[in-house]
Amino acid sequence: MKILLTDRIVFCFGVKRAVRMAEDALKKNRRIYSLGSIIHNAQVVDDLSKKGLRVIKTIAGIRKGAVLISSHGISPNVARRIARKGLQIIDTTCPFVLNAQKAARRLGEEGYRVIIVGDADHPEVRALVDFVSTGVVVVRDRAQAASLKLAEGAKVSMLSQTTQSTENFLDAVREILKKKPKELRVINTICNDAEERQSLARQLAGKVDLMLIVGGRNSANTKRLLDVCKKVQKRARLIETDRELRKAWFNNNVRVVGIASGASTPDRAVRHVVNKIHRKGVA
Ligand code: F3S
Repeated sequence: MKILLTDRIVFCFGVKRAVRMAEDALKKNRRIYSLGSIIHNAQVVDDLSKKGLRVIKTIAGIRKGAVLISSHGISPNVARRIARKGLQIIDTTCPFVLNAQKAARRLGEEGYRVIIVGDADHPEVRALVDFVSTGVVVVRDRAQAASLKLAEGAKVSMLSQTTQSTENFLDAVREILKKKPKELRVINTICNDAEERQSLARQLAGKVDLMLIVGGRNSANTKRLLDVCKKVQKRARLIETDRELRKAWFNNNVRVVGIASGASTPDRAVRHVVNKIHRKGVA
């Protein structure tokens, strides 16, 4: 059986930077709290927890130490609350997310109604919403964009969660255009890494008999990889670790297996999957 990997089987730039900042900080200070998961990968969060990182849901009750902001960023209100408590901030927000935050703030200040295309429950989007001082709404996809009501003469702007697919973003933009807003300003805030990872995964999925996406189930960019692969390959599956491989997936019709990984997946997770398939040790 042949196994083909995409050219992106390493952490993205933003995740690599966040993990390195957390590791450096843990060498100097043992009392470091991560407000939510630093990245969406359970194995990496476990590793950092063993080195002393404590994951918290809220800063209530924290009086000393440093609070680490995840690569997804936080709301300016929460940042102000942390600063008011006199806690040190280690900000690992990905620079691509910071760009989206700056754009959201600027558009709000310029009086646009801001439409964010993304998952409303994702921490990046929850924070992004708080950067907009005027009207803001989150739409997941074309259907939600189509159901939006725009006031006559509305001045509208659109931006995207950094890990969305370009296709989904453009579909939503087209729906809004159909409503003929007086002005529509579109800012592409999708990060290059997410875009390239999706394109490489889509290309590979079209050439193989089974496509495996390795990454966290709570990771937006990993789920997006699965979505784009499923459009060209029905046999596409998301697994977090090699322990989830199943023998039934590898029947005689499967001669070539493709593997892509999420931006927050450590390369060792992919190595374990490859080794297990080669050893035919799948359960
Ligand atoms: Fe940043 Fe893109 Fe990674 S937004 S965290 S470089 S997937």
